[in-house]
Order: sequence, then structure tokens, then C-alpha cells
Amino acid sequence: MTTTHRAFLDDTDCHLDEFRDQVLRETDLADYPHASDVRSNVLVYSAGAAAQSSRRAVQSELVRALAHGPGVVVFEGGFTDDVVDAARAAFFDIIATQRAAGSAAGDHFGTPGANDRIWNAAQKLALHAPAVFAEYYASDVLALICQAWLGPRYQVTSQVNVVNPGGRQQVPHRDYHLGFVRPDELAAYPAHLHQMSAVLTLQGAVAHCDMPIESGPTMLLPYSQRFVAGYIAFNRPEFIDFFAEHHVQVPLRKGDAMFFNPALYHGAGSNTSSGIRRMANLLQISSPFGRAMEAVDRAAMVRAVYPVLRTMKAAGRPERDLVNVIVAAAEGYPFPTNLDRDQPVDSLAPPSQVDTVLAALADDMSPEALAIALRNQDDRRTP
Ligand SMILES: [Fe+2]
Repeated sequence: MTTTHRAFLDDTDCHLDEFRDQVLRETDLADYPHASDVRSNVLVYSAGAAAQSSRRAVQSELVRALAHGPGVVVFEGGFTDDVVDAARAAFFDIIATQRAAGSAAGDHFGTPGANDRIWNAAQKLALHAPAVFAEYYASDVLALICQAWLGPRYQVTSQVNVVNPGGRQQVPHRDYHLGFVRPDELAAYPAHLHQMSAVLTLQGAVAHCDMPIESGPTMLLPYSQRFVAGYIAFNRPEFIDFFAEHHVQVPLRKGDAMFFNPALYHGAGSNTSSGIRRMANLLQISSPFGRAMEAVDRAAMVRAVYPVLRTMKAAGRPERDLVNVIVAAAEGYPFPTNLDRDQPVDSLAPPSQVDTVLAALADDMSPEALAIALRNQDDRRTP
């Protein structure tokens, strides 16, 4: 990660030449003594060998690789075949149930219908097959790298993605958090938050089948996490073109686990195979930080304050004052949510409670109608 002396970033920070300088680097195996190989500039570790080494030494190397190095590592044999096969069968059961219920899930980036998606797959697996869940998450490779990036406690979520033959590639992107903020709002977050976003989450993908190149394993641009303005830049055509020209793909075997810095430019590849239903369990592991100290009933606060807001508006108070009150009272972030019921429409993120209150005030909604809208929103968000 590079540092910037400017407090805020904007389009003028998106220099392709600087990006090229950061990204076009060779990974030297000698710099990473615990790694077993470098493939397409990506570091490869043996899960078995890592388990035999000093835990802190391996973790220190992983932090360096994810932060300043290629930004992506693969653990071969991270999950054993029997564990993956049991989870794969459980996930196909869950997909069949979702299809039968007519609740096949959509996708942020893919074409509807080409993929099968299980949102909140961690909870669904735990409830559907608790013993399978326990064996799966007993994996020490997962704990090793989560503890390295996030510390001793963390929040596991997972989403299963099955890309069927003919499934098209995703657009390149960065991931949660800032990867899910509207492009026109990104520059409003100061530069230090652009850097912080990457250390709040670790992305992982466990291969639940062999993934040769024709099945479309994740397209990656090693070292791209280093570019500070990368969240703003990834929507620009010259950066998309650069990704198309320079990205790499690493074939995976069933049970291999890939982990990457969420600021790494990446996207699922096209499945041009004739018969591989490419199943990956996409792990998103979050820092337990990033929450307030107190539990707050923000819906109750909004219900109480909304009539005052309408009075202030009628009295001609400036819009900014009203927004300030709403941001202080209402929940400003749409996540975590239930992505089966609260799916984004034409957007990366569903509306937050702040969005709901702003819309209510703009439409002069009655307090009773807003109370119903808030309750419906809470219902959609409940796991
Ligand atoms: Fe992603």
C-alpha cells in the first residue's frame, strides 16, 4: 500500500502510469521463504507445510504478501476432499431447495440465470448440515490467515457461487467495503478510509471442484491493491482495459483455497467449459471492529424525531440541517443485511435507513407510513 499526503482523493489521483508502476512487478519466490511456488505472479503455499512451520513467521509473511506483495495467495490442499465433497453436496441441496421455492438468487455482477448463488451460505450450511459446517470451519488454514489479517476474533460470512457453463465473466472490481460504495460518493471518503477499507476484510474462495482455466477461475491483477486511488479508478475505461490485458488466472484443484486483499482488482472468469459447474465458496471474513460500542434502536429514534423533521422542513430550515439530523439518528449503512430479501436494485447496495428517511421526508410521507416502511425494511434485513 502506498501512502498519500493528500487528505482526499479524486479523479486526478487516477494516473494509469502510476498504477502501471505499482502493478507490473515480478513475484520472487526467494522473498517468501514459506511459499512453495509462484504461479502467474501469485504465491502458492502448501497447507501441510504451513502447518509445520512457525505460525507467527508464516503469518508475518502472509501479511506482507497481502499488503505489499502480490495481494493474493493460494493454499493448496486447504480443505480435504471429504470435507469439500460433503459441503458441495449440502450446497447443491440448498440450491435445489431455493429453486423449488422459486427464490433463486441474483448476483451483484453476473448475468441472472447463468449462476446459482447462495447468499448467507454460512448460516444456511450451519442449519442444514451442522456436522458438515463444523468440519469445514475446523480448517486451520482458514484460521491461520484470518488471524494474520484480522486478529484473533473475526466474523465469517460466505456466499456460494456456481457459475455454469456459458457463465460470463464479472466486471473487474474491488470488494467490500468501499467496493460497494456508489462511485459518485467514493471521493467523499477521506484517503485514510480508502486505505483502511482493505484491512477490515479478507476475501477467500475455496474451490469446490477442480477449476481448470476453461472453467473460469478468478481473474486477478496482482499488486493492484497497492494503488491508493484504486476504488475511484476501477470504473475508468483505461483501468478496465489494463485489467483485461494484464490479469492472470490460476487453475485450482478441489480443496485449494485462495485468499486476497479486498482491494485487489479481480473478477470471476468466463466458464467456457462444456460441463463444469464451477462451485466456489466465497468467504468474506470481517474484522469484529467497525461497530459502535452501544446497541441503539435507531428505528425508534427515527419514529420519534421524524415529526420534528417535518416541522423543521415546513419552517424552511436548510436541507443540510435536516440531513444532519437524519444522519445522527438513522442507521447510515445498509450492511449487514439479508441478501435473499434485501437485494440491491440497479445498485451495489440496498437502501440504508438514512436513505429511507430521506426519501420519506422528500415525499412528505406520513409518520404512520414511515413507521411501516421502517418495519418492512427491518423485516427484509432480518437473517
Ligand atoms: Fe469480488
